[in-house]
Amino acid sequence: MEIRPRRLRGGDSLRKMVRETRVSPSSLIYPLFIKEGSNIREEIPSLAGQFRYSPDRVDQAAEEALAHGVGALLLFGLPEKKDPLGSAAYADDGVVQQGIRRLKERYPQLYLITDVCMCEYTSHGHCGILCETEVDNDATLPYLAAIAVSHVRAGADMVAPSDMMDGRVLAIRQGLDEAGFYGTPIMSYAVKYASSFYGPFREAAGSAPSFGNRKGYQMDYHNVREARKEAQLDVEEGADILMVKPAMSYLDVMYQVKQETLLPLAAYSVSGEYAMIKAAAAQGLIDEYGVMCESAIGIYRAGADILISYYAKEIADAMGKGD
Ligand code: PBG
Ligand code: ZN
Repeated sequence: MEIRPRRLRGGDSLRKMVRETRVSPSSLIYPLFIKEGSNIREEIPSLAGQFRYSPDRVDQAAEEALAHGVGALLLFGLPEKKDPLGSAAYADDGVVQQGIRRLKERYPQLYLITDVCMCEYTSHGHCGILCETEVDNDATLPYLAAIAVSHVRAGADMVAPSDMMDGRVLAIRQGLDEAGFYGTPIMSYAVKYASSFYGPFREAAGSAPSFGNRKGYQMDYHNVREARKEAQLDVEEGADILMVKPAMSYLDVMYQVKQETLLPLAAYSVSGEYAMIKAAAAQGLIDEYGVMCESAIGIYRAGADILISYYAKEIADAMGKGD
């Protein structure tokens, strides 16, 4: 035999030399839940090891992330009061806005990205403004733009719309530009499927819809050409970064979107993916560290340039070790 693939597998240093996928903590984003109130640091039952912090206690989360070499956060707000128009989402003193101001003041080196959506703020739990029992696409757009502008005014470095309304990237782009924030990038949740993998997040954020589901605006998981269409539209509307979400069950989608776009591609390994690994590991069924590393690398291998993960801190450590 002249050709023996095993030659390149003989020993750790050679294996690492010929490795095809190389990753860095600078590509990681860590999601953070900020809850209205004071002196709160509570573990989230559906997401073992993740916490909700009140704005006055976010320092600990920031310091931990930075200590692991994770310099970017994705912020979610959990307001005290909800109403049909989600008014706490675009209030100057809203919970995310408070958190942003605190973090920016104390940790200017942190890169702050905000999730732009209405479902955590609306009494009905849908991602937009209702007309009867339907989410009214066009009525929602100005609200999304107002939320984004409000976040950036408070100090956010980037906004990430996750609502899945048509035309929202353009509406947000125009809103930001009119407010003078033409330099603020938009990371669009361009390809976001209606997924059961969001369950633990909705528990964590109290954002499950009070009736119906999100299939009228989030994508059908049977589709992949539709993903290419969504990605293309968001590029035309001025998105700066595209996202595919969830990650693990959508690696084919990620691969295809990556082949077609010139923009950086982010993957969101969502709450259900994290919770499944946690739960299986807690039962002694799998090795948590190994599965975490393998699934993260699978996502990068499929084409992700950026990984959003509840394991970001642990993945950063693993990257440092060359795992
Ligand atoms: C808000 C939003 C959701 C997630 C990110 N932004 C929930 C949803 O769409 O129902 C899910 C994140 C996760 O599951 O980790 N629209
Ligand atoms: Zn939403």
